Amino acid sequence: MARETFPFPDERIPFEVKQTLRPLFKRVFKTLAKHAPGSSVRIGLLRACGFRIGESVYLGEDIIVAEILEDGSEKLVLGDRVAVGPRVTFVTSSDPNKSRISPKYVTPLRGRIVVGNDAWIGAGAIILPNVTIGEQAVVGAGAVVTKDVPRMAVVAGVPARILRFLDDTDKPLGVSLDI
Ligand SMILES: CC(C)(COP(=O)(O)OP(=O)(O)OC[C@H]1O[C@@H](n2cnc3c(N)ncnc32)[C@H](O)[C@@H]1OP(=O)(O)O)[C@@H](O)C(=O)NCCC(=O)NCCS
Repeated sequence: MARETFPFPDERIPFEVKQTLRPLFKRVFKTLAKHAPGSSVRIGLLRACGFRIGESVYLGEDIIVAEILEDGSEKLVLGDRVAVGPRVTFVTSSDPNKSRISPKYVTPLRGRIVVGNDAWIGAGAIILPNVTIGEQAVVGAGAVVTKDVPRMAVVAGVPARILRFLDDTDKPLGVSLDI
C-alpha cells in the first residue's frame, strides 16, 4: 500500500478526509503498538503507520516514536534483522510545543532516523532526530544517541560515545558479566 493512501486505500475517499483522519488512526495504532503483546503485532501496527520496517526485525515492548502525527513521510526506517530492546524511544520531531522559548531560542528539529541492517538497540535507549545508526552497530542500554553511529560501533552513555568496534577485539559482547 502506498504510504500516502494509509490507512484508506480506497481512492474514492477524498484526499482532505484522509489527511484529517490519518493522524487519528496513527495515534491509535501507535498506542496499540506500545502495549501490544508480540513483536510481530507491534511491527504490523507501526508499518500501518507508514514507518518502514525490514524483515526479521524484533521490536521490544513499550516502543515510542515521538513525531508529528500529521507527517506521512517515512521518518523511521529500520533495516532487516534490527533488534530493538524494550522502552526504546525514537524522536523524529523535537520542539517545546507551545512554549514561548520557541522559535526565538529553540529551533524545532525534524528528522529521519535510519537504523542499518543487523543493528542492536539496547533497552531504554533514546535516538534523536537525524541520526543514522550503521549496520551491525550496537547501542547500549540507556544511551542517548545524538550523532550518527558508524557501522559495527558499540556506543553507550549519555550522550552516546563509542566504546569500541565489534571487530577490533576478540571479546564478544557481555562476557564481562560475572554471573
Ligand atoms: C553496551 C554493551 C553492549 C556493552 O557491552 P560490552 O562491550 O561487553 O561492555 P563492557 O561490559 O565490557 O563495558 C565496557 C565499559 O562500558 C561501560 N558500559 C557498558 N554498558 C554501558 C551502558 N549501557 N551505558 C553506559 N556505560 C556502559 C562499562 O561500565 C564499562 O566501563 P569501564 O570500562 O569504565 O568499566 C552492553 O553493556 C549493553 O548495554 N547491552 C544492551 C543490553 C540490553 O539492553 N538488552 C536489551 C534486551 S534485548
